[in-house]
Amino acid sequence: MKFFADTAEIAEIRELVDLGLLDGVTTNPSLVHKSGRNFIEVVREIAGAVKGPVSAEVVALDHPGMMREAEVLRKIADNVVIKVPLTPDGLKSCKALTGEGTKVNVTLCFSAAQALLAAKAGASYISPFLGRLDDIGQDGMELIADIRMIYDNYDFDTEILAASIRHPVHVVQAAKLGADVMTAPPKIIHMLFNHPLTDVGIANFLKDWQASGQKIA
Ligand code: E4P
Repeated sequence: MKFFADTAEIAEIRELVDLGLLDGVTTNPSLVHKSGRNFIEVVREIAGAVKGPVSAEVVALDHPGMMREAEVLRKIADNVVIKVPLTPDGLKSCKALTGEGTKVNVTLCFSAAQALLAAKAGASYISPFLGRLDDIGQDGMELIADIRMIYDNYDFDTEILAASIRHPVHVVQAAKLGADVMTAPPKIIHMLFNHPLTDVGIANFLKDWQASGQKIA
């Protein structure tokens, strides 16, 4: 499973790059707003810090507007992936952009039918939003399982990018169901390390090691 960071905070991204855990980054207009940074500048900086794909989202709602914005965004760096919403204009833009060799992440997916449409439009990534489905009492994981089955049935190349991840259990469940990628806020990625028995185990080993009086030299 590839790990993407869902953030526009460059310091958090660099920390995960240093850990060797990061395969890519996703941003969205809300995350860019939260960063307080200029959109183009922040995408350029992230794309320079990360070798893998960096999703940058268009905000136009019509096909010509999306294509104009995509033109600006894809010029920033070769690893920029254009993020479009799951609408008829979004998928029309997806088809046109992928035809030109640009990778597209289709975002705001909440149903298997929508995911099927995105694959048919040639999306490189489909982003089902798990947490937001859970928020309204629907099972986000059932959606991942459905998309996995459909994409496997037809050998679609579109990668399932589990998004709107809210906790480590989401990551594990999505991995068990075969999601190709997950994107999560950096704090959730760091939480994956945690287990109290690991901490207790380290403390006990250290205590016994000190009692042995030995050194590794
Ligand atoms: C994905 O690309 C989105 O940016 C993101 O996962 C949305 O997550 P949220 O529902 O926590 O805002």
